[in-house]
Amino acid sequence: MNIVVITGGSKGIGKALAKMYASKHYKVYTLSRSIINIQNVTQIAVDLSEFSEVKTQFYMLLDELKKLTITSITLINNAGRLGSIGNIENSTPDDIAKTIQLNTTTPMVLSSMFINFTKQLTCKKQLINISSGAAVKPYEGWSVYCTSKAAIDMFTKTIAIEQENSKNGVKCMSLYPGVVDTCMQAQIRNTPESDFKNLQRFIDLKENDQLYTTDYVAEVIYKIDTENLLPNGAIFDIRNL
Ligand SMILES: NC(=O)c1ccc[n+]([C@@H]2O[C@H](COP(=O)([O-])OP(=O)(O)OC[C@H]3O[C@@H](n4cnc5c(N)ncnc54)[C@H](OP(=O)(O)O)[C@@H]3O)[C@@H](O)[C@H]2O)c1
Repeated sequence: MNIVVITGGSKGIGKALAKMYASKHYKVYTLSRSIINIQNVTQIAVDLSEFSEVKTQFYMLLDELKKLTITSITLINNAGRLGSIGNIENSTPDDIAKTIQLNTTTPMVLSSMFINFTKQLTCKKQLINISSGAAVKPYEGWSVYCTSKAAIDMFTKTIAIEQENSKNGVKCMSLYPGVVDTCMQAQIRNTPESDFKNLQRFIDLKENDQLYTTDYVAEVIYKIDTENLLPNGAIFDIRNL
């Protein structure tokens, strides 16, 4: 059985990914706070910014997966948040901590648990972290978000080397999905310009119909996963495809 586990499968890129893999008869599991109406997807309601919930729910999911005959397995760490937009001195401590927890700490914890769980499996195993061009380009007003994505890229590169040198290693990569028409983009466009100097660029991209659709991005990520298009440790911007 081909398995995919997707965080943040209730909206945006994650929802399109869940639909894509389900349409290809994968067994699809998603983890998000909300449960949506979607066919052939097992949804787990969990707040991925709450550490104890993350551990409990993911252990329960892995226990479930133990019962299956797995022929390939992919974990896609996709759930993410921008957090409040504005200069760092205007962010609250809680908001900073929540963004780092969701965008960086939780993917690290899930990756660790996933790699440990799949150690004995000799089938195809992939770990895809959904990162962002913001990992390498500083945007004023997004300091926490940019940092959370830069950290996930370094994490990807480091565990990729570890896995390269491990028996039955997992292939690990970070993907930048481009600018995609989701709630996250709507949040960006609704920010006052005083808090985000690059606002007009994102308004223009939307008005000029230059945003990627979630379906397109899901199709590309599915192809990268299933057709082995990238090497272990790749940090890849899908705009370069
Ligand atoms: N859209 C873009 O232009 C763009 C560009 C570069 C990178 N990205 C990255 O792509 C990924 C997906 O972004 P998107 O644009 O699809 O965002 P989105 O439409 O806002 O969807 C975010 C997803 O994450 C889930 N999520 C948020 N907070 C959560 C929490 N505390 N616990 C569990 N799940 C949570 C949401 O589900 P619930 O609300 O149901 O919990 C939702 O399914 C993110 O990592 C983002 O950084 C996006």
